[in-house]
Amino acid sequence: MNYGLPYKGSKNRIAKRILEVLPPAPVLYDVFAGGCAITHAGLLSGKYSRVVANDINGMIPHAFETAITGGVTALFIGVLVMLAMGLAIAFFREMVL
Ligand SMILES: C[S@@+](CC[C@H](N)C(=O)[O-])C[C@H]1O[C@@H](n2cnc3c(N)ncnc32)[C@H](O)[C@@H]1O
Repeated sequence: MNYGLPYKGSKNRIAKRILEVLPPAPVLYDVFAGGCAITHAGLLSGKYSRVVANDINGMIPHAFETAITGGVTALFIGVLVMLAMGLAIAFFREMVL
């Protein structure tokens, strides 16, 4: 299992073990979250009702959140629709002009 995004210094390999030894709590705070390996393992563990990720570089936690909430799929579908519309317009112009 790969946890979080590929990231320098990622806890991916030990994330599951870390989650096993952490005591139960309502909220997991993943400070210095980096690629969010601990956040990811915490979400999958079902031990926490809320998981909070913090990093000075907000783009990485944001990318992780987008990936797990389906934003990437929505973005991918949007790009496909735009490509299809572009092809349809090009085809229409070719046929009419
Ligand atoms: C070794 S990485 C953490 C890797 C992460 N535990 C994982 O498994 O992917 C250290 C992180 O700390 C962040 N960081 C450094 N200084 C910080 C600060 N003052 N506040 C919040 N995050 C900080 C860096 O941006 C970097 O992503």
